[in-house]
Amino acid sequence: MRISDPFIEVSKMAEIPYELVPKNYEIIGKSMLIKFKKDYPFDKIRLANAFKEVFKLHAVYEIIDIEGPLRIVNVNLLSGERVIEQHVENGIIYSLDPSKIMFSKGNKYERWRVGQIVKKGQIVVDMFAGIGYYSIPASRLAKEVHAIEINPESFHYLLINRYLNNSFNIIPYQMDCRDFPYENFADITLLGHFESLNFIEKAIEIAKNNSFLLIHTVERRGSELPEIFREYNLKVTSRRIVKSYSPSTFHYVYETIIFK
Ligand SMILES: C[S@@+](CC[C@H](N)C(=O)[O-])C[C@H]1O[C@@H](n2cnc3c(N)ncnc32)[C@H](O)[C@@H]1O
Repeated sequence: MRISDPFIEVSKMAEIPYELVPKNYEIIGKSMLIKFKKDYPFDKIRLANAFKEVFKLHAVYEIIDIEGPLRIVNVNLLSGERVIEQHVENGIIYSLDPSKIMFSKGNKYERWRVGQIVKKGQIVVDMFAGIGYYSIPASRLAKEVHAIEINPESFHYLLINRYLNNSFNIIPYQMDCRDFPYENFADITLLGHFESLNFIEKAIEIAKNNSFLLIHTVERRGSELPEIFREYNLKVTSRRIVKSYSPSTFHYVYETIIFK
């Protein structure tokens, strides 16, 4: 049986050369998000209509940018209509509005990995919970997951996803994680934010001695370990690249243990 290449169909329908049909995009449920290179030379709406038709989508958006520490997504609807999507991954349902909240395919391994790290009966604190990207996989074995999210929009979907996945051991907090009240508390502390290094002091306060911290950063490839790790006696057990972030920087994850 011949398997047809959908990009050929998109190319024909939109009358855009095959090699200039974008191949790198995010699919959230049945919504597609495309980040175009500067000065894309063809009609984006014609392209989006073709993608919608061939991939049987609800909507096709252009990503304009993802802003600031709250990671607010700024998009332009090119084709179809805005739908609250249910994205299923590793048996977990994530409900979200793709026009407002990002769900990066580049972090798929990290969402899976969190579910592997958490051991039965542990207490997890997710300092940047978003819609539950890590809190839900963590909740499978944890005793409790304390999920902190400052942005009301993301918090709304965190509550929905907690419910959809029967993750009632997630304790949601809509607040700034710097105000989390418990100390020497977590077996596992998750810092899923690019600016995590600015929150290390608070994370160490939350973490138990000899416990595990998972820390996301954005750095130049090949840079030295962050100095702050030595300062606070954080031992790195693993460091990996999650994805490219900009032409000269990468999104990294550190698995660490704190010795207080
Ligand atoms: C980058 S997103 C999470 C991305 C996610 N880890 C993933 O895999 O795609 C970080 C989240 O942290 C939240 N946030 C930012 N600053 C915060 C703070 N001080 N306290 C609590 N949540 C915060 C943002 O609103 C956002 O939902």
